[in-house]
Amino acid sequence: MPDALDLLKTRRSIKAVELSPPGPSPAEIDTLLTVASRVPDHGKLTPWRFIVFEGEARRAAGDAIAKFFRAKYPDAKPEQIEAERERLTRAPLVIAVVSRAAPHAKIPEWEQVLSCGAAAMNLVTAAHALGYGANWITEWYAYDRGALDALGLAPHEKIAGFVHIGRPPGPPEDRPRPPLAEIATRFAPKGA
Ligand SMILES: Cc1cc2nc3c(=O)[nH]c(=O)nc-3n(C[C@H](O)[C@H](O)[C@H](O)COP(=O)(O)O)c2cc1C
Repeated sequence: MPDALDLLKTRRSIKAVELSPPGPSPAEIDTLLTVASRVPDHGKLTPWRFIVFEGEARRAAGDAIAKFFRAKYPDAKPEQIEAERERLTRAPLVIAVVSRAAPHAKIPEWEQVLSCGAAAMNLVTAAHALGYGANWITEWYAYDRGALDALGLAPHEKIAGFVHIGRPPGPPEDRPRPPLAEIATRFAPKGA
């Protein structure tokens, strides 16, 4: 198991199409979900939940995605529709992170959304810690009401991401990261 700081300093996404089987075991999926749900959560509202897509269920979800793709693009070619059917079969495991953020008397909705983002990031990090690659993506169907209904989301729920998980082909090349000098400042009181 990589050292925690090494993992955080070197982690990077692996494209969904490059993630191969075998995917995580049932015990590893439990570990992933346990880590994903262990995030700061103002008010302990649990403003997120997870949907696990594995095995044949990935293809069934793809059928629903393809149906709404056809409704959106009636002139789509058969090969485009077939590609939509395969949306969730690229990686052996996909976990949807669903935001349940809603207006609340004390806890701003924004903070609930942030907690959901933290859950998604914890899931990605846990997958890497177990030796898998992961890719946090949304794509068009995360924003299509028909597709969301078909995937079982309630009207107020939103997709934070479909986290694709599988074996990486090898160590990935990194991408440039923002220089710290451009994103971090030290606060100095005005006039000091
Ligand atoms: C909420 C969210 C949605 C994203 N959706 C997509 C997407 O639909 N397609 C995509 O190529 N990348 C998407 N990304 C970006 C990838 O997850 C990832 O950040 C990018 O591939 C660079 O990876 P790395 O910096 O983790 O190596 C999304 C990221 C976030 C945070």
